[in-house]
Amino acid sequence: MTAAPTGTAASAVGSARARITEPTLRRDAWWVGPVVTVVVLAGFTGYGLWAALRDGNYYADPYLSPFYSPCLTDRCADHATPHILGDVWTLSPAILVLAFPLGFRLTCYYYRRAYYRSFWWAPPACAVPDARARYTGETRLPLVLQNVHRYFFYVAVVFAGLLTYDTMIAFSFPQGLGIGVGTGVLAVNAVLIWLYTLSCHSCRHLCGGGLRQLSRAPVRYQLWRRLSILNRNHMKFAWASLLWIMATDFYIWLVAAGHIHDYHWVA
Ligand code: FES
Repeated sequence: MTAAPTGTAASAVGSARARITEPTLRRDAWWVGPVVTVVVLAGFTGYGLWAALRDGNYYADPYLSPFYSPCLTDRCADHATPHILGDVWTLSPAILVLAFPLGFRLTCYYYRRAYYRSFWWAPPACAVPDARARYTGETRLPLVLQNVHRYFFYVAVVFAGLLTYDTMIAFSFPQGLGIGVGTGVLAVNAVLIWLYTLSCHSCRHLCGGGLRQLSRAPVRYQLWRRLSILNRNHMKFAWASLLWIMATDFYIWLVAAGHIHDYHWVA
């Protein structure tokens, strides 16, 4: 049973409380963050659609665009991954590949915050009201499906491994072993993807969660402690890896389409 409010508490919750008619009392530019998020995410969506549907110029030996990795068709002539689809699949192979990293990003706790705020205004910023009066959170369909994020994490680890593999292959030119601008671009991409994946909240929970006493699991504790440092920067890794993956695909497209020359040195 709840006790009736008394004294100061009573006056704070009673009819004496001031009515605020303004939508928000914030006078700073709180809308800048949501607007920037909309612009960047819409830009990435537009670029991603173009990259996934262009179905060509995604491989410039030995570089494979991350949008098409793993290469499932036989169009990546010399790439070392098995082309299990051969020429059976007639649509862009990126459509098959992208569903997994996209699912990981869409259900990411950080991106959820970003797009709930920016696109749905639920709420757009602290101390700014929601665009809609009703709030049901992630307790019912379809948003309850966001809880699959922890399972997408396992898939994301596999994809991070594949991108690392692509980076290793990027040292192997038709003329022999070497290093090129594209090798560096792919290497930075793989590092950022690993940082984004390992800083995931689900990864941190996997290592340190579900324990009554962390001190009884020293290995998991050390792992959790280090991942917590990464986790604090998850937002930065989310944006950096998103933008760099776009830059990587764009660079490989430029080379594959013959718009620029890839400078590389072969031993
Ligand atoms: S919380 Fe962002 S990837 Fe898991």
